Amino acid sequence: MSQNLDPADDIVAYNRAAWNSQVRKRNRWTIPVSPEEIERARKDDWRIVLTPEKSVPNTWFPDFRASSIEVLCLAGSGGQQAPILAAAGAHVTVLDNSPAQLAQDQLVADREGLAIKLVLGDMADLSAFANASFDLIVHPCSNCFVPNVLPVWKEAARVMKPGANLLSGIVSPIVYLFDDQLLEKGEFKVCHRIPYSDLTSLSSEQRQAFRDDDEPFCFGHTLTDQVGGQIDAGLAITGLFEDCWSDWPISEYIPTFIATKATKGK
Ligand SMILES: C[S@@+](CC[C@H](N)C(=O)[O-])C[C@H]1O[C@@H](n2cnc3c(N)ncnc32)[C@H](O)[C@@H]1O
Repeated sequence: MSQNLDPADDIVAYNRAAWNSQVRKRNRWTIPVSPEEIERARKDDWRIVLTPEKSVPNTWFPDFRASSIEVLCLAGSGGQQAPILAAAGAHVTVLDNSPAQLAQDQLVADREGLAIKLVLGDMADLSAFANASFDLIVHPCSNCFVPNVLPVWKEAARVMKPGANLLSGIVSPIVYLFDDQLLEKGEFKVCHRIPYSDLTSLSSEQRQAFRDDDEPFCFGHTLTDQVGGQIDAGLAITGLFEDCWSDWPISEYIPTFIATKATKGK
């Protein structure tokens, strides 16, 4: 299914169809967890990622068994984090822009008898939720699919309870600097500026190739928007680690992902 999209068109609608298509193509980030992983999570032996390789430290999570913990998986569908957290004892809501990705969470919920609330929506608009609804927000690498990340942080901070944490995966802007085609041959040629947008930085032929393959369009945000944006939304950065995706040649030289923990004051 190929779509036509000009920069002025609706990126939320385009990326929704593109992610639906990624599910059909079995993209890594659309593959649900196994029954064995759920079984282990029920016994409190579990891990989740926000970035490709490193697990989130256990110390970043509250005790899901001690009290009723409301978790929002923000733009985090795909049958991965949400069912693990539900099996670990959290009350989980998932908001995502792709019905096919949400269906992956429903599939695991049905298979495992887990309760997960599914909400179709845009991460920049959390009007489906009241102020101070969640104890924890888990936001895996997905804000690279929106042109402006600042409303995401603002909305996340609004729906967090006092003392709640926001755990986010961030793609480092450095990955957007280089010519993609040369990168595949191991050559690093800087040719893009940050902030980066597939819509304005790629040639019309390259954008057409994305459309033909139903590839989502991406955006590379500055660290001012990614980290400063969380602080400006009223949160304090209380944890950070870096990660890599070993498949990417640049990972040999510098970490390409950042995970942050941000805390709302009490
Ligand atoms: C790389 S996947 C992340 C989910 C995955 N479970 C993980 O571990 O990273 C990116 C997700 O962002 C979602 N997404 C893209 N644009 C969105 C938007 N504007 N609002 C909400 N979700 C969005 C996609 O539908 C997709 O499920």
